[in-house]
Amino acid sequence: MNTSTKTNVTVVDHPLAQQLLTRLRDYTTPTHEFRQKALLLSQFLAYEAMRDLTAREAGVETPLGPGKGVVLPDYVVIAPILRAGLVLAQAAQEIMPPTARVYHVGLKRDEETLQAISYYSKLPDKLPSDSKVYVLDPMLATGGSAVAAIQLFINLNVKDIHLVSFLAAPEGIKHVQTSCPRVKITIASIDECLNEHGYIVPGLGDAGDRIFGT
Ligand code: PRP
Ligand code: URA
Repeated sequence: MNTSTKTNVTVVDHPLAQQLLTRLRDYTTPTHEFRQKALLLSQFLAYEAMRDLTAREAGVETPLGPGKGVVLPDYVVIAPILRAGLVLAQAAQEIMPPTARVYHVGLKRDEETLQAISYYSKLPDKLPSDSKVYVLDPMLATGGSAVAAIQLFINLNVKDIHLVSFLAAPEGIKHVQTSCPRVKITIASIDECLNEHGYIVPGLGDAGDRIFGT
């Protein structure tokens, strides 16, 4: 897949991913198509983000005899930020090894203050320090939600954290890079700016509402 990488940020510029994103941006795209295209784009981004998994060599028996294969690391965590991150989690789970754990992080952005408010978190007390965590949220706007979710895993001593989003505002990327400089980011586009309500411009509107038809 063709990507451009700069300071831990990978923008997936594959034309098929960009075409899916275009359908998501279009305000006339109906909910059922939005969800379908969101799942496909999620899969693209998940494949690209998970390129950094370290696979171990392992043998495999084919119908014609022994061959070379790989096994993926044991401790991979998918952490969707509710609600909109669920679409990315669904796609990621399809392509992940069955041992991948899913930990949901419930955050709601206060529309006045733009601060992320936690309403659900059921993380374990401990995670192996070599865990690989993918924090999933389609929208990186001010970055408040992403940083709050990432911080939960930093507090558990996880070092290898990767944020996967559809769209980012430059302000959100800067916030994540300043607060959590080791975190890698995979996205389909860096948009122009935030508007006065903290929405990404041009963006795609409210991701949760468009995915769930609310
Ligand atoms: C949206 C989006 C992110 C957050 C981004 O969720 O899915 O989680 O806003 O904004 P930020 O970068 O400024 O924090 P929202 O809080 O609207 O909740 P929802 O997914 O339930 O709609
Ligand atoms: N949340 C969204 O769903 N969209 C934005 O543009 C910003 C925050």
